[in-house]
Amino acid sequence: MLDSLDRTISLAAPAKINLALHVTGRRSDGYHLLDSLVIFAAFGDKVNVKHAPADSFAMSGPFGSELPDDENNLVLRARDALRRHFPEQATPVAIHLEKRLPVASGIGGGSSDAAATVRSLAALWGIEAEPEQLAAIGLMLGADVPMCLQGRSLIARGIGEDIEHVAGLPHLPILLANNGLSVSTPQVFAALEKRDNPPLPALPALATVLDVCAYLAETDNHLFAAAARLTPAICETMDELRNTDARLVRMSGSGGTCFAIYDSDGEAETAAKNLRQRNPDWFVVATHSVKEGS
Ligand code: C5P
Repeated sequence: MLDSLDRTISLAAPAKINLALHVTGRRSDGYHLLDSLVIFAAFGDKVNVKHAPADSFAMSGPFGSELPDDENNLVLRARDALRRHFPEQATPVAIHLEKRLPVASGIGGGSSDAAATVRSLAALWGIEAEPEQLAAIGLMLGADVPMCLQGRSLIARGIGEDIEHVAGLPHLPILLANNGLSVSTPQVFAALEKRDNPPLPALPALATVLDVCAYLAETDNHLFAAAARLTPAICETMDELRNTDARLVRMSGSGGTCFAIYDSDGEAETAAKNLRQRNPDWFVVATHSVKEGS
């Protein structure tokens, strides 16, 4: 019993990358309807939870000082939401967040942290909820939280909560780059000029990096133009990535993090090294897609 009380549960909160993001409509409540091909990266934040005499929350990591440690933090909102639903099991917890993803940057850091908090606390508290129930709790925290609870390749529709798993994607070597500017998601959505775009083309078999990039060439990130109008410096990040051997360069989510896809991990690492040398203050990470279900 002591063992289980001492146990720390540590979960990755991976970066979410919208390989393609089509805005297909708008709901009456103002939320936008999306059709998005999403993968998760082998790089991200980390959430640790353990039993404690009283609740506590601490953050570390390169971006740990950029977030509030109050109820505006999605980790604490996730803890409190789960506690409200399962008050009997929800004993005090110490939570630690290692923040390695830039804040408000289009790669789902906050949503992924919330998802990892829900999953790790559900395990710590012995909550046996149906995945649908956790997804519903996640959706109240943010439109991207249900997809982050999945943590594997998927297509997200609706406002992000209607999820279809995608199997068989190849290993994708990826470079993530952000020049330090955070972008406001609501402002980007509000600045959209066109909201009734066609959905993503049907997904063919995508066996190789080239197949993926050929498919993505037929798609877009419909948030890019609005994000670039609000934060023109995003174009600098895109230009720097285009000056590498990338097969495809695009912005993720509402920006400003951009990603590039390469033929090999070695190429992504070389591009990262060069980009870091030219822009030492930028967030630059060579990573790759996570395997399905891992
Ligand atoms: O759900 P989340 O808090 O992540 O969304 C932040 C904001 O982004 C929302 O308040 C909304 O303005 C906008 N949004 C949207 N359509 C979506 C997701 C987010 O309009 N599908």
